[in-house]
Amino acid sequence: MGPPDPIIGVTEAFNRDSNPNKMNVGVGAYRDDSGKPYVLPSVRAAEEKLLSQNLNHEYLPTHGCPRFRQAAKILAFGEDSVAIKDNLIASAQSISGTGGLRIGGMFLNKFHYSKLLYLPSPSWGNHTPIFRDSGLEIKSYSYYKKDTKSLDFENMINDIGKMEEGATILLHACAHNPTGVDPTLEQWDEISEAIKKKNLLVFIDMAYQGFASGSVEKDAYAVRKFINDGHRILLSQSFAKNMGVYGQRCGAISVVAEDAEAAAAIESQLKIIIRPLYSSPALNAARLVTAVLEDAELHKQWLIDVKGMADRIISMREALKAGLAREGSVHNWDHLTNQIGMFCFTGMNPEQVERLISEFSIYLTKDGRISVAGVSSKNVDYLAHAMHQVTK
Ligand SMILES: Cc1ncc(COP(=O)(O)O)c(C=O)c1O
Repeated sequence: MGPPDPIIGVTEAFNRDSNPNKMNVGVGAYRDDSGKPYVLPSVRAAEEKLLSQNLNHEYLPTHGCPRFRQAAKILAFGEDSVAIKDNLIASAQSISGTGGLRIGGMFLNKFHYSKLLYLPSPSWGNHTPIFRDSGLEIKSYSYYKKDTKSLDFENMINDIGKMEEGATILLHACAHNPTGVDPTLEQWDEISEAIKKKNLLVFIDMAYQGFASGSVEKDAYAVRKFINDGHRILLSQSFAKNMGVYGQRCGAISVVAEDAEAAAAIESQLKIIIRPLYSSPALNAARLVTAVLEDAELHKQWLIDVKGMADRIISMREALKAGLAREGSVHNWDHLTNQIGMFCFTGMNPEQVERLISEFSIYLTKDGRISVAGVSSKNVDYLAHAMHQVTK
């Protein structure tokens, strides 16, 4: 019997609990202010539009829907991207972000001379198994400073300076999971420079474009900066969170090459990796996302929808901090509002987390991470009360 997945196990325990006040702040899925799964109005409209077109259900090409791939590239790299214009980007539609990372990992294993990948410490729990199972060797670099609950910038730059030349470094584009701590724009510039000096290959995981700041352009800063600085990056995109199409499994993997010929060759190799894995990706997912991105009206609505989700998360961070102050907590909770995106690294230890679960039926991962997307105006005071009880 294999052990349960640490994140999915949280939801399973939550489902078994009969306490009417129970809260699931473990899972990374957005909820509306009544705690319900949220279908974005733009996505619902796209769904209705597609239904009225009586489309067929034929297979997609191995590397996915061409229109989807183009729309995903424009979203990530920008309308005026030279890399797009010059056909420097090899891309494939993937089984959401996880699939994109895995294809990227397998591509590195097959074609990159270094099999070494550096992950931030900590990183999303699935990164290690994804890249380990892709055959890569994994090491970590400093990212998070426990005492300040913020970016450990100095040690991060130091660690980059000590990395093996030509290895790959994985970066979260925005809304770092699990810490909610992102570099500032100036820090991104310095990170890019330090990476350049070591001739590292950059793999960017962008699972939350739009979710951090509410702006898809701002959240793509790192991706575009790295391209402008002349890095040849790999990029995994997920549409799970920013379109709320979690179960549709829609994402993309891109590899930016040095010229159009290399890009075409790389794309052919991506197809060769994908074919024996699952033949071709999800049709409906590509249709939905493409319909939203290509249609000017739906796209406009979607930007409003994304901003609405980001703003609700930001307001819940503020409400939680205010609630803790009202409870009389003497701890500094500034990090709740300094951090960004869906996740908040509260700083609670495993014993405190255990008490939240057993005494208050509030479910979260052992590292003290809460998904702010699971907090609503109805349960935020209960959460603040419980967090105060276990941390006072
Ligand atoms: C950092 C990060 N990368 C990638 C993913 C991939 O998610 P999905 O496969 O659902 O797109 C997630 C999801 O939680 C994530 O947090």
